[in-house]
Amino acid sequence: MKVFIPRIIPEAGMKLLREAGLEVTVWTEKRALSKQELIDHCMDQDALLSVSSRIDATFLNTCRHLKVIALHSVGYDNVDVEEATKLKIPVGNTPGVLSAATADTAFLLMLATSRKAFYMHKQIQKGKWGFFEPTANLGIELYGKTLGVYGLGKIGTEMARRCKGAYHMDIIYHNRHHNQEAEKELGAVKVSFDELVKNSDVLTVHTALTPKTKGVFDYHIFSRMKPEAIFINTARGAIHNEEDLKRALEEGLIWGAGLDVTNPEPMHADNPLLDMPNVSVLPHIGSATVQTRDAMAVLAAKNIIAGLKGQRLPNIVNPEVYEN
Ligand code: DGY
Repeated sequence: MKVFIPRIIPEAGMKLLREAGLEVTVWTEKRALSKQELIDHCMDQDALLSVSSRIDATFLNTCRHLKVIALHSVGYDNVDVEEATKLKIPVGNTPGVLSAATADTAFLLMLATSRKAFYMHKQIQKGKWGFFEPTANLGIELYGKTLGVYGLGKIGTEMARRCKGAYHMDIIYHNRHHNQEAEKELGAVKVSFDELVKNSDVLTVHTALTPKTKGVFDYHIFSRMKPEAIFINTARGAIHNEEDLKRALEEGLIWGAGLDVTNPEPMHADNPLLDMPNVSVLPHIGSATVQTRDAMAVLAAKNIIAGLKGQRLPNIVNPEVYEN
């Protein structure tokens, strides 16, 4: 059986695929394949282990022979899952294993933004260490502040744990359902979206990108946040409107922003957000630790192996494919 992988993945996953006797082809050039190239490469394959590729209806219909598509990510917003389900192609993802690393990234961005750390680093590189004045380069402290979590799932809970432990922050959250575990462990309080926006000192986004969450954080919402609030997004760039965020920061509607995700990605080098003192931007590295990427590669490989054996994927996005 043959598997195509459009980017190099950690050896931990490759090893499992080889041990399962699969013939693996990896695209090693450092550029994303075009839609047609991906189709061409998948024509004689049995499975696709997808890294960051857009899997739309055209791809799925042309490559309907694929027995399984395993994503090297927890997010599946770049896949037309409905179409895959219609075509009975199981799609797998990698939940759970990246929660701690992604929460670390959100926490890092919160702290860096609160102390303007990325900006200060750039100032030194420009030879602008500056003259010491007690009123210069001031950040804000986080102790006892309110953390608002938009999407208190696995990653959001890890972020809340860090903020509670380090800064005794009060945790409020907005979800469709109660997260009873987090309420018990962290005293998290479920609030309306409006209350979340109005009362958060740090508002951190940990929800999936869906038609409902796309563009939710726009100028109108930023204008209702506290002027000293920090906005953090490590989920998906399209959940906030980047132009509106820029305007909100320029007008002082909020204090700062920390982004691991942008829209588009990559962010252009001349984006004015990169020059703002209270903004910290990272190139979508939430899950980028050796341990987490190994664990993701292993989960993706296990999904491929199960799918090719005709077994249920251990981490399935569209379980409906197994219904009659
Ligand atoms: C994920 O797993 O969804 C991360 O954002 C990496 O894309």
